[in-house]
Amino acid sequence: MKKKQVVLVTGASAGIGKDTAKSLIAEGYTVYVVARRVENMKDLEKLGSISLKMDITKEEDVVAVVEQIKKDHGGVDILINNAGFAIQGPVEEMAIEEARRQYDVNVFGLARLTQLVLPYMREKRAGKIINVTSAAGKVYFAMGAWYVSTKHALEGWSDCLRVELKPFNIDVVIIEPGAISTEFNDVSLNPLEEKYGSGPYGEMVKSFVKFSKETESTNNSSPPSVITNVILKAIKSKRPKARYAAGAMAKPIMALRKWGGDNVYDWIIQKMVR
Ligand SMILES: NC(=O)c1ccc[n+]([C@@H]2O[C@H](COP(=O)([O-])OP(=O)(O)OC[C@H]3O[C@@H](n4cnc5c(N)ncnc54)[C@H](OP(=O)(O)O)[C@@H]3O)[C@@H](O)[C@H]2O)c1
Repeated sequence: MKKKQVVLVTGASAGIGKDTAKSLIAEGYTVYVVARRVENMKDLEKLGSISLKMDITKEEDVVAVVEQIKKDHGGVDILINNAGFAIQGPVEEMAIEEARRQYDVNVFGLARLTQLVLPYMREKRAGKIINVTSAAGKVYFAMGAWYVSTKHALEGWSDCLRVELKPFNIDVVIIEPGAISTEFNDVSLNPLEEKYGSGPYGEMVKSFVKFSKETESTNNSSPPSVITNVILKAIKSKRPKARYAAGAMAKPIMALRKWGGDNVYDWIIQKMVR
């Protein structure tokens, strides 16, 4: 009997990661799920996954997860780098420590995990690495400097990795979600007004929060299943595309950025926070 493929999904305690994990379990993969809130993955355990606690910024956690999977199955066949979050706010007022934390989670944690799963894939000459970036890997908006720059970084990093790993038959695929209904907005928007609402960028911050919340509440966002579907498509494809954009606003806003050019894009995006 053919060995079941082993998938590791990061950020599976909520949102896109949890939804993707559910579908992968249903499809018969051996699924490892990781996040800090291990208690929020009990439902996935009941469905048949193995859940492990992992803060992606902690070397000891990341090493322990990969060692555990090596011991159980030899290694990871498919890595879904999904864990991430957004800090938003005016650059002038944001602490550099917060920005470092943003890079530690969205870029360096993911990169370290990828390094650790690669030897097994390289030796087998097979494997898939799915990196969840964002439409914000290609577009930008006020209040988003640190988050947007991590996702731009991840796009470039993933493109380099894709060509580097091609000779070893390992696919690197970028997933660019648009607006998706998850815990993401709560994590990033809730602290904003309290922190920056009365400062020099207060009015801009308030309009940004209002616009973002309206987008979510007026059904202008997609369910996580939209992203799960493209992740599954990429996993199952023998020749996956380099990148898949999906979810509310992803394709239109990326097209606006690409074809409108800097001035048109800046004008439209500034109206959003006026
Ligand atoms: N929702 C959107 O509109 C949207 C749009 C574009 C891109 N994305 C991207 O999609 C990915 C998933 O986001 P989501 O929308 O599903 O958000 P979510 O519901 O907030 O889930 C984020 C996940 O990341 C995990 N995570 C955060 N910090 C972590 C850390 N230090 N160590 C380990 N895990 C950590 C969280 O787990 P714990 O808190 O339990 O650790 C959680 O499981 C992110 O990379 C995000 O940037 C989302």
